[in-house]
Amino acid sequence: MSIEKLLEKNIDESKQGEVLQLSENKKANRKMYIESYGCQMNFSDSEIVASILTNEGFSTTKDITEADLVFVNTCSIREKAELTVRKRLEFYNSIKRDKNPGMLVGVLGCMAERLKEKFLEEEKLVDIVVGPDSYRDLPNLIAQVEDGKKAVNVFLSLEETYADISPVRLGGNGVTAFVSITRGCDNMCTFCVVPYTRGRERSRNPESILKECQDLYNDGYREITLLGQNVDSYLWYGGGAKKDFKKATDSKKENSLTFANLLDKVAQVNPKLRIRFSTSNPQDMGIDVIETMAKHNNICDHIHLPVQSGSSRILELMNRGYDREKYLKLVDEIKLRIPDCAISMDMIIGFCSETEEDHKETLSLMDYVGYDFGYMYKYSVRPNTPASRMEDNVPADIKQRRLAEIIEKQQANALQHMEAKVGETYEVLIEGFSKKSDQHFYGRTTHNSAVIFEKENHKLGDYVMVKIEECTSATLKGKVL
Ligand code: SAH
Ligand code: F3S
Repeated sequence: MSIEKLLEKNIDESKQGEVLQLSENKKANRKMYIESYGCQMNFSDSEIVASILTNEGFSTTKDITEADLVFVNTCSIREKAELTVRKRLEFYNSIKRDKNPGMLVGVLGCMAERLKEKFLEEEKLVDIVVGPDSYRDLPNLIAQVEDGKKAVNVFLSLEETYADISPVRLGGNGVTAFVSITRGCDNMCTFCVVPYTRGRERSRNPESILKECQDLYNDGYREITLLGQNVDSYLWYGGGAKKDFKKATDSKKENSLTFANLLDKVAQVNPKLRIRFSTSNPQDMGIDVIETMAKHNNICDHIHLPVQSGSSRILELMNRGYDREKYLKLVDEIKLRIPDCAISMDMIIGFCSETEEDHKETLSLMDYVGYDFGYMYKYSVRPNTPASRMEDNVPADIKQRRLAEIIEKQQANALQHMEAKVGETYEVLIEGFSKKSDQHFYGRTTHNSAVIFEKENHKLGDYVMVKIEECTSATLKGKVL
């Protein structure tokens, strides 16, 4: 396969730019259009925004020309993500000029937080700028712009988790849902903008998490993914930022709840509710989490364990908090307790000062782990991060060549995993239809492998046993037994 093809296949962009639409809100007198980019947390946040504004008399529309209010939920993780948003703003500008002069435009999420008031100066079209912790203030901010002013709220909170707001879920498949459990990140990886755009780490009240999971199960959902920048670092001690845990009273400390404790409780909501979680940080993932996974059949055998590099020297420059040996030891611990566990990664290629030797270490680490899936990115400098003060000195063509080599290796590893599944039988949760044919269902195995099979007398949300007959590096095909 050509390098261009490999690069194209690298990132799953199927959700980027998705527009949220809810069922009709009879009391609504205004229409909003919400488009989302970036990580799953952004898509989840858009559902919170929709929930807040539905109570304010808004309904959603997929037709931007009839919207009173247009929101774009933005991502800052790489330069390309920000360029995509700038392009969308140009498009909104043309709509406002030619078709919908009355529409107001709001920017939500990480790019709003990063650029703050500067957004209003740079993009005359924008009326509202709101960071990830200020969505409760949207009704006030909207009232301000309706009065003809511009409005900004980029306050980052030590407490906000939106625990009491049930996100609206009508955009999804009715089978799988995301439940956020932590917000923000304290890890300070040197390349990463998230600690600056999403603030300090805080955990959500476990009761509200368990209630949301139970409600989802009762509504027919069969899989939930617990969501956070760094889920293993979850720590509930009655509320507040993780960094303030030291100041908590002894009784609060004694009654605190870790991620493994939470996972154990969520797994007991119902044995027919599958549990996944993302993202695990190798420096925070404890053996207790792996043991909890091994204990419950309904916790899926898949861990997304971003590595970023196979070179200890680069990992140190990235401030990842682990080296190659520690990472590989963790992988061994996982395989020891869950032999068949699927492992996936994120990788950054061409970080500051990365040599050919470092790159070879990355390739050999991939040989050792044999990842089932991977998301691989060329390093992109983010303004004001610690790495922005280092030299981004790997030439573009070398970054490109190394990325292609890494993707090629990953494709080969993925194919090997898939081929080993041919002839085996797996339990598959039916999530939807094949993109290519509505006569075929789409679902996933516990290992997160996509499976396509011919439709029989089943419905979305059913578990079926599927015998795998053939595969590509991305998809299994089989027959229901
Ligand atoms: N803990 C987070 C990580 C968010 S960023 C999570 O929940 O997934 C997702 C991935 O983007 C990171 O793991 C990293 O591989 C990549 N990334 C982050 N900053 C980057 C940068 N400056 N350049 C290239 N890739 C980056
Ligand atoms: Fe970013 Fe590292 Fe946190 S990648 S989100 S700072 S764990």
